[in-house]
Amino acid sequence: MLSLRNTQKSFLAEHVKEGCTVADFTMGNGHDTLWLSKRVGESGKVYAFDIQDQALENTKALLEKEGCPENYRLIKASHHLLLDYIDEPLDAGVFNLGFLPGGDKSLTTLRTTTLPAIERALTVIKPGGCLIVAVYPGHEEGRLEGELICETLAAYDQRMLSAYRFNVLNAADCPYFIYIELNEKYKGGAL
Ligand SMILES: C[S@@+](CC[C@H](N)C(=O)[O-])C[C@H]1O[C@@H](n2cnc3c(N)ncnc32)[C@H](O)[C@@H]1O
Repeated sequence: MLSLRNTQKSFLAEHVKEGCTVADFTMGNGHDTLWLSKRVGESGKVYAFDIQDQALENTKALLEKEGCPENYRLIKASHHLLLDYIDEPLDAGVFNLGFLPGGDKSLTTLRTTTLPAIERALTVIKPGGCLIVAVYPGHEEGRLEGELICETLAAYDQRMLSAYRFNVLNAADCPYFIYIELNEKYKGGAL
C-alpha cells in the first residue's frame, strides 16, 4: 500500500542521488534525514533543521544506530534562518510540517515562519531540483499553514516553478503534500 511518506519518497528519488546536497527542514525524529543521508551517501551532504533539542537527540541516535555515513549536519535553528547555514545550491529539500511525533504538540510549525522558510528554500534549490512540503490540516494551525502555502505557491510564475498538490482523500483529516519543481531553465531570477 502506498503511504503519504512513500509517495513523497518516490518523487524525491528522481532528484536525490549519490553525491547530492539536500535538506530536511523539519528533522523531527529523523526518519526523513535518515532516508536522505543513506541515499546521498558518503559523497553527499544533508542539512537538517529543528528547533527542539529532543529532535536533534532522537535524530542523532537514529542515524548512528542505522550506520549512516557522516554526511549530515544537524542544526538547532528555525528553518526560516536557513540562509545563515546553507550557502550552496540544493538538489532537493523536504518539509514535513506539524509537531514532533511523541513530543509537545504545542511546538508545531507555524505559518509565520514556515512560509518565509519555503520562500527562502526556493532560492537555494537548483534549477530542475525539487521541494516537498507535507501538510497536516487536521489541526487548526496545520490547516491555516497549508492554505497560506497553497495560495502563495499558486501566485508563482510558472516559468520559475511548477507546484502540484497531492491529497489523500480517504485518510482521516485529508493530509496532503505539495511537490514543487524548479524549472530547469530558471537561473535564480533571470528567466
Ligand atoms: C512532523 S515533525 C517532522 C518529522 C520528521 N521529518 C521525521 O522524519 O521524523 C515536525 C518537526 O518540525 C519541527 N519544527 C517546528 N517548528 C520548526 C521550525 N521553525 N524550524 C524547524 N523545525 C521546526 C518540530 O519541532 C517537529 O520536530
